[in-house]
Amino acid sequence: MKLWKDIGFETEMTEDGSLSLRQLESVDPSKYKGESMHHSGGACAETLLIYGTPIREILQKVIRPNFLIVGLGMGYIEMTIAREALLLGRRASDVGRITTYESLPELREYFYKWLHGYENELSSEVRKTYNSVLGSVLLGTGLSEGDLLDFLRAHFTQLDDLQGALTEDFKFVNRYHGIMYDAFSSKTTPFLWGEDFLFKVLHEGAAETCWFSTYACRVSLKNALQRAHFAITVRPGFVGKRNSTLGVRISEKTLI
Ligand SMILES: C[S@@+](CC[C@H](N)C(=O)[O-])C[C@H]1O[C@@H](n2cnc3c(N)ncnc32)[C@H](O)[C@@H]1O
Repeated sequence: MKLWKDIGFETEMTEDGSLSLRQLESVDPSKYKGESMHHSGGACAETLLIYGTPIREILQKVIRPNFLIVGLGMGYIEMTIAREALLLGRRASDVGRITTYESLPELREYFYKWLHGYENELSSEVRKTYNSVLGSVLLGTGLSEGDLLDFLRAHFTQLDDLQGALTEDFKFVNRYHGIMYDAFSSKTTPFLWGEDFLFKVLHEGAAETCWFSTYACRVSLKNALQRAHFAITVRPGFVGKRNSTLGVRISEKTLI
């Protein structure tokens, strides 16, 4: 059974006590290690701030919203959708689609197996990592692990419910009210941050009413959001990080 290092990662403890994964190798030869999935100041805290806040607003304002996540990684955002919905007293059926893209097959497979309790098929290191992420997301909420897992199991009933890499020729079959754009940086995956690509994601993926949130703040992103008629809020970055971006496009007739 594979360990994180076998698929090119190591776990990293962040300052709020939640785990992240860091790539063992960098695309930048001057760097000793690759990119971490989260800010060292707190993987969970960063997720709740950048993605949890808009997710809550979407759930409060849109009936059966659809969510698109780019970058499953360790599953923090998916768990955060379940957390926020459960905190509002919603059930899995109160959320429309949760479409998650992840380029690494092992990350899709491990998350799926962990979610559905195929514990014997995962190394204890990998299993413990997901359990720890779940504990961090639930901390202080009073929600039960079982409720959150049941919520996600209802959305990811089979492995194929987790999509592979988002590629330049993508075709969406749904429109999304929340787009949580959590890809690696432009150094690691440049095409995901190009203006025309981002505009295509918005043009073809966003519902009339849509929140687009990301930890990044880039000119290409602002241009794409403007072209797609989103109002842009540059939010303070997480713990000294550069600013993050929230784009919102509201059509009053679609709100609760
Ligand atoms: C910053 S991490 C995401 C962290 C994640 N949201 C979490 O909650 O743990 C970026 C992820 O995007 C994935 N990725 C890279 N290129 C991708 C692509 N073209 N499509 C989908 N995912 C991609 C990486 O494998 C990595 O897991």
